[in-house]
Amino acid sequence: MAKRETQRHKRARALKRRQHLIAAAVLGLAALGFIALLAYANRPADEGQAVTVAVQPADLSQEAVAGESLFKANCQACHGPNASGTKLGPPLIHDIYNPGHHSDLAFYLAAASGVRQHHWPYGDMPPQPQVSEDDVGLIIRYIRELQEANGIVYKAY
Ligand code: HEC
Repeated sequence: MAKRETQRHKRARALKRRQHLIAAAVLGLAALGFIALLAYANRPADEGQAVTVAVQPADLSQEAVAGESLFKANCQACHGPNASGTKLGPPLIHDIYNPGHHSDLAFYLAAASGVRQHHWPYGDMPPQPQVSEDDVGLIIRYIRELQEANGIVYKAY
């Protein structure tokens, strides 16, 4: 009789232990879920969002005017009117692209070979082989004159 009692006791204790384990697992999962939620809520604000800027018009040189029409034909679909950005590509009238951080070479390379996504969440820029080096030179004039009119000037890095 006494022996039976202990066995029942043992079984009851084992059951309790199992219940505790399950409760701990549930709590653990809930805590993990909460942490994931916090991480999601604190993700960088610009992720997945298009950045566009207001661009002041510039008094363009003749070269830059030629560059503007080349830009419209080849770059504007992603980089936006006046290079102000769209949800497909970043604004080039942006301090990141000041000549000290992205020299003219960056423009020649971007057009010839494309750009791997690194500064923004838009994905890669595909190469633009239809645009010649001379064309890129004119586009650069256009971008640099617009940048200057918007206070974006050379900064050493
Ligand atoms: C299909 C969309 C698309 C087109 C068309 C496009 N670009 Fe881009 N471009 C991008 C994206 C997206 C990036 C940003 C990549 C990153 O840094 O994450 C970019 C980045 C750049 C950069 C920065 C390069 C670097 O080194 O970081 C330059 C310069 C540039 N583009 C110039 C141009 C020019 C000039 C044209 C037209 C001849 C053009 N792009 C056409 C999508 C495009």
